[in-house]
Amino acid sequence: MYKKIARSFLLGLSLLGGITTGLHAQDDQPKDYLPKEFHAGRRAALREMMPANSVMVVFAYPTRVFSNDVDYFYHQNPDLYYFTGYKEPHSLLLVFKDEQTDSAGGKYSEVLFVQKKNAQQEQWTGRRLGTEGAQSKLGIRMALNGEAFKNFPVDFSKFDKILFDRLPDDVSNSRDRADLFDLIQQFKEKAGITDATAKDKRYDNASYRQLTGALREVKTPEELVLIRKAVEISCMGQNEVMKVVRPDMSELEIQGLHEYVHKKYGAEGVGYGSIVGAGENGCVLHYMENTKTRVGNTLLLMDVGAEYHGYSADVTRTIPANGKFSAEEKIIYQLVYDAQEAAFKTLKDGAKLSEAENAARDVIAEGLVKLGIIKDKKENRKYYPHGLSHHIGLDVHDRSNYGTLKKDMVITIEPGIYIPAGSDCDKKWWSIAVRIEDDALITQNGYELLSRFAPRSVEDIEKLIAQKSALDDFKLPPLKSADKKGF
Ligand code: GLY
Ligand code: MN
Ligand code: MN
Repeated sequence: MYKKIARSFLLGLSLLGGITTGLHAQDDQPKDYLPKEFHAGRRAALREMMPANSVMVVFAYPTRVFSNDVDYFYHQNPDLYYFTGYKEPHSLLLVFKDEQTDSAGGKYSEVLFVQKKNAQQEQWTGRRLGTEGAQSKLGIRMALNGEAFKNFPVDFSKFDKILFDRLPDDVSNSRDRADLFDLIQQFKEKAGITDATAKDKRYDNASYRQLTGALREVKTPEELVLIRKAVEISCMGQNEVMKVVRPDMSELEIQGLHEYVHKKYGAEGVGYGSIVGAGENGCVLHYMENTKTRVGNTLLLMDVGAEYHGYSADVTRTIPANGKFSAEEKIIYQLVYDAQEAAFKTLKDGAKLSEAENAARDVIAEGLVKLGIIKDKKENRKYYPHGLSHHIGLDVHDRSNYGTLKKDMVITIEPGIYIPAGSDCDKKWWSIAVRIEDDALITQNGYELLSRFAPRSVEDIEKLIAQKSALDDFKLPPLKSADKKGF
């Protein structure tokens, strides 16, 4: 009864709202999504680079079960997002090198198969653009429902190259017809892909990766606006945490503070699982449990990157939770800092990333020998076991062909030293873990440090930790069901 009244009341309101309803629906949404012209431009650039007489096939990422009938928050295949702006699952894009002609003589050079509108499904899992939305909002003229793919007259046998990525596996049937599972099966049938033919040279996974890498590794001005924002927001998270951090905080609480600040600035989520590791936990490179209830008087390694409109930052700061680096912590921190500085100096258009890698590794190896932590520089990987850099963008570890650096690429510079307890060195170094990770935009003659908004030096970090935070006074009452420790 209550529901009925509420429903007719809302219906009345929306009728009263009349023509302004659509406008209002847009007014409260972000205004800085990538415009449809960006995506059209990327498709045009792709077409230019595609080999003669070829077609590219881009599938959406599968949905994944989180719990029983609840899925993980959906993340689109960045390639599909890059070329279309479409964010929904169960979809497929075809891009043709050459213009195609349909049976009525109409011309087209791309087709997007989308999720069909379905009022009942949309009530549960969210609104769908449908074909009309894809046409009007994304500017894709040839947008068809997924179920149209089955009988869509595309003759794959006429192409010299069919470019596609490794096909997504482990997809379950959704409640819709023409879900991703069906689209993949239909593609295999149409293109004649079987276990026996899979190695046919016309099926070209390598060129798919090469072309999408070549496009996505150099950022356009529109992308740089969003990346700058993602990185600055991540720095704001780091800064606020530095100001509010105390040894009695938990790793989870600190993670929450970062992510709260991100969302306050409009970032929808994080580009990867947030890493907040105190002391020994910092030695686990992709530590994500964040379950330590008291970070204590240790170093706190915080690798947390906001994702803003699809673009991910990747920023790490390592700070003393009690506000002051110990003598040993300071020595290790300074070594990582110096390694990062050495790497920065090599960056510019035309340089090789290996120069930065070697410069940073050399500083760390030499420093570890001088401190007596290793005997030979060659042993450096024991305490610095990962690479220095990767691209960022729509993926945190973004697509790139890893050739020479080019203007408008965005990469991380992230040296680190991790000395787990029990390591074969003086005990005083045990459980010290430091990573400093910054995001650099490559320019003609050098680089721009996009993550310059969060302090990096020992002095600047200690200074910021001593400042007050807007969150200092944010106190919540203890839980009624708490045990003696307050949990
Ligand atoms: N946050 C993952 C990485 O630094 O690559
Ligand atoms: Mn990284
Ligand atoms: Mn990182």
